[in-house]
Amino acid sequence: MKSVTLTLDPAFRVGRVDPHLFGSFVEHMGRCVYTGIFEPGHPTADSNDFRQDVLDLTRELGCTIVRYPGGNFVSGYRWEDGIGPVDQRPRRLDLAWKTIETNEVGVDEFATWCRAAGVEPMMAVNLGTRAVQEATDLLEYCNHPEGTALSDLRRSNGQKEPHGIKVWCLGNELDGPWQVGHKTAAEYGRLAAETARAMRMVDSTIELVACGSSNTYMPTFAAWEATVLEQCYELVDYVSLHNYYEPVDGDVDSFLASAVDLERAIEALVATADHVGARLRSPKKLRLSVDEWNVWYQQDFAGQDNLDWAESRSLIEDRYDVTDAVVVGSLLITLLRHADRVGIACQAQLVNVIAPILTEPGGPAWRQTIFHPFAQMARHARGEVLRVDMHTPTHHTALYGDVALVEATATYDDQSGELAIFAVNRDRAEPVEIDLDVRGFAEGWRLEATTFHHDDPATRNVVEDPDRVVPRRLEQTNLTEGHLAGVLPPLSWNVLRLVPTATEPSPSSTDRKEQQA
Ligand code: AHR
Repeated sequence: MKSVTLTLDPAFRVGRVDPHLFGSFVEHMGRCVYTGIFEPGHPTADSNDFRQDVLDLTRELGCTIVRYPGGNFVSGYRWEDGIGPVDQRPRRLDLAWKTIETNEVGVDEFATWCRAAGVEPMMAVNLGTRAVQEATDLLEYCNHPEGTALSDLRRSNGQKEPHGIKVWCLGNELDGPWQVGHKTAAEYGRLAAETARAMRMVDSTIELVACGSSNTYMPTFAAWEATVLEQCYELVDYVSLHNYYEPVDGDVDSFLASAVDLERAIEALVATADHVGARLRSPKKLRLSVDEWNVWYQQDFAGQDNLDWAESRSLIEDRYDVTDAVVVGSLLITLLRHADRVGIACQAQLVNVIAPILTEPGGPAWRQTIFHPFAQMARHARGEVLRVDMHTPTHHTALYGDVALVEATATYDDQSGELAIFAVNRDRAEPVEIDLDVRGFAEGWRLEATTFHHDDPATRNVVEDPDRVVPRRLEQTNLTEGHLAGVLPPLSWNVLRLVPTATEPSPSSTDRKEQQA
């Protein structure tokens, strides 16, 4: 059997686990909002018409921050349409998704939903068709306590407390010709700088995200960021990166290695940002906001141009299998491994639209396969990320050349003393032996190990059988004398936790479920 060795040491630290690495995204698109998070008349709907079943799954997923309201949608959005009495809100054409937007949900409803879900809102302003005034108005409406026209308007709309939204995106994907209000890098950089300056005058405590490229295939990738950041480097805290992955021409091994591309993109963007910082003689280091990432079968989407106008309809409701979950797991590993420079990451999206949670209108909500790696990492990655010294066999892929068979990262929490290792085995046919050298840590651990694997990697969780594939106990593990040995099944996502026996609190109900499965 092939084998992999990993050495971990509490001194090998990459950076703190920022909770914002476990973000998600709710866009007014398809059924993400309507019949996703919000459904009047649904059996679980609360007094605000939020689906409680979706709220429960959102809490279980463990996402911490949720980007809103788009996405492409935001580039034509008038936020004022979504406030005040619902029966007086206008119906509008959403040009991005060829949908009639009813505006039943707007910023106040979203902020209320965030409070119910226990997540932080992350708001995008429209820099496609709008500019500085509308952005500062929205910020004043959301964050100013009271005593001005806009803050008092919020209060009269029933929102006495300010929403206190900390993180703001300066538009969305404005490098893309498909974007309403698409701009050149110079145009966008100037607008982003002007908007950022004014928004900081309204609220100096906010954090701002400048738009990076829509994906790494854009001809302007990296050049766009350089031009934009030349104008707004000192005014923003993050630059965004978006990337989606899917198998091309049935090449599953390259698809399983998608994280190689994400890693290259992160490193390219860090280098670009640092280059601009150096030219500006700035001591400041920007962080990345990977605020759209996921597996998305874009080949299956005919595009909005081929749609007829409609109100709330299904769009890109990809059904994920075990292979997709392993890819998502490896993307999560890559994001965590760059915790020194990636400060925010939002999986796109939360419900129905390329999402870990699926719903039926009037019916149940359930967890797709990709729900599990996200939920496990969000629950167990605590403290600081450790650099893992790893020796692994490789295999050849058409897109990325020789690629490691095993990808892994680890976190160590000084407070609880817990060490968590997250690993994928990309080998579709063979299990792989792993040996972890953990002699640098104190003794006295209990091992909790789970694997997410199915003999048929095309297995999906469906409404009739929503828990067909879930994390199960990883058998064949052994912890002795500072070495943890185990066997990772073929094509699998694995979580190995070393929990101090002395300080271990009684396991939560979710932990118990994982262990019993
Ligand atoms: O998440 C779906 C879409 O993908 C978003 O609206 C857009 O920003 C990206 O291109």
